[in-house]
Amino acid sequence: MKGIELSVFIITDGNSYKLLPEAKDYKRIGAGDTGLNTGGMGAVSPVPFADVAFMEKVRTTIINPTMSGLKSEGIEYKGFIFFGLINVKGDPFVIEYNARLGDPESEAIIPRIKSDLFDLLEGVANGDLDKRIIEIDDRYCAAVMLASGGYPGHYEKGFEIRGSGRTNDCILFHAGTKIADGKLVTSGGRVLAVSAFGKTLKDALEGSYRNAGLVEFRNIYYRTDIGFDL
Ligand code: GLY
Repeated sequence: MKGIELSVFIITDGNSYKLLPEAKDYKRIGAGDTGLNTGGMGAVSPVPFADVAFMEKVRTTIINPTMSGLKSEGIEYKGFIFFGLINVKGDPFVIEYNARLGDPESEAIIPRIKSDLFDLLEGVANGDLDKRIIEIDDRYCAAVMLASGGYPGHYEKGFEIRGSGRTNDCILFHAGTKIADGKLVTSGGRVLAVSAFGKTLKDALEGSYRNAGLVEFRNIYYRTDIGFDL
């Protein structure tokens, strides 16, 4: 199948479900989606081509039949479902299912959930998700992953991370970091995700990249083209 991929998520108590914000992630290490696959180098949400008509097709041809299929097979599924989809000339097709959220999609979609996530999780546990409200922030959120140079191949770690205190109007999600001798240091290939909001995708990316530029550690690497294809 040829097209653009996107990630769609629901949370379900086994009967009803809530649609979470969708996202597009960037899996490869190099700009232009080149080089080796990684755990994810960035994500943006919402996805501009996932408009009302497209998402209606996703609901009617993919999500609702999935829910019915789980029921008819006697599977009581509670939690998140991640639909890895591809948009082929305006029609969504399933590439994969995951029984979890996505990473780094989470760093772009969870900030957009304005309602209390705990309330939704409680609705899943209690089986009354249909009575809970989900409110989504209309703004764009972009997440840029700061990585250790060399990742996903060999890389060194243990370098001090400076500048995180200078960042503003963003959320830093720690992935491969730890405190050593009282200092914040790198401890993995993917180190920090920098997520920022914007009224437009361009504004959100500008916020992420401005803040990414304030963080320093030896051999820092990040993709400079997250979201540009959209
Ligand atoms: N970003 C893709 C995944 O979490 O599988």
